[in-house]
Amino acid sequence: MGPVLCALSAAEASASGKVILLGEHSVVYGQPAIAIPVSTLRARAWVKPGPVGMGLQIEAPDVNRRVRLAEAAADDPLAVVPRALLQRHGLAEPDGWLTVRSELPIAAGLGSGAAVAVAMARALLLALGHTPDVDEVSALAFEAEKLHHGTPSGIDQTVIAWERPVFFVRGERPQSIAVGAPLDVLIANSGVSASTRAMVSGVRARAQADPETYQRYFARIGELVLAAREALATGDVRRLGALFDQNQALLQALGVSHPRLEALLVAARQAGALGAKLTGAGGGGNIITLIEPDQAEAVRNALLQAGASQVWATRLEP
Ligand code: PMV
Repeated sequence: MGPVLCALSAAEASASGKVILLGEHSVVYGQPAIAIPVSTLRARAWVKPGPVGMGLQIEAPDVNRRVRLAEAAADDPLAVVPRALLQRHGLAEPDGWLTVRSELPIAAGLGSGAAVAVAMARALLLALGHTPDVDEVSALAFEAEKLHHGTPSGIDQTVIAWERPVFFVRGERPQSIAVGAPLDVLIANSGVSASTRAMVSGVRARAQADPETYQRYFARIGELVLAAREALATGDVRRLGALFDQNQALLQALGVSHPRLEALLVAARQAGALGAKLTGAGGGGNIITLIEPDQAEAVRNALLQAGASQVWATRLEP
């Protein structure tokens, strides 16, 4: 039997952004990492049914793109999720429009690619009459992540599909995290964009050249992540802040920091933040800084003065 034709209904869905609290890069090599959703920054997708025979047209106005699914290149990031989804369900290309928009900065370590993929998967599943299942949505978005860089750990689309804090080990089911006290985090954009693919392959090349040193760095970061899980559970924000700083020192050693990130980290610490580090692939993108609630304004101002292009606040509740 060939693929089944299925009419679309109108549907819409969204997906959060994310920040990695600790453990980026080493997570690619099997070490644990901790990530939280950023629910206030979202990607959204809409499906509208269209005339019979038009096929599926995908539109991403934020990046000025419009493509017909049938004509999209095999590695077109906009086409990957719809193709994988239709194939999984044995469905022929439906007729209509799939539009995506995102509030998340692109190539900045906040999971913009994964958020767009998750929102698309959810909207299309709904439009085809399915209830989006978190594991399926995560698996579909993982196909898109593989395009962004060849060997993703899977942490981005996992935390976004689950939209809750996760303790993540590559290839394993995410574990939820106990949070003992509210956690206030500021996210600051350096305004420098960086390719995750380039950053991950740079680490790989350096790790291949000096495996012993890099394995030691990765293992040490893994230990910091375990300590951070404890600190989160007991609500020990001071300890967690110190762990951010220690993780940052190791990320610097891995060669993924950037002078513009360093300037933001110094500014946050001088303004009294409990700890600060880059988040995501680095080389640009965003930093995160852990603060006491009454420090928010001072640290935000310090970050803006030090050149942050945007600052967002997020709070993790117990
Ligand atoms: O896509 P980003 O910039 O959030 O980085 C992903 C995190 C890495 O650990 C650097 C890569 C990965 O696949 O986990």
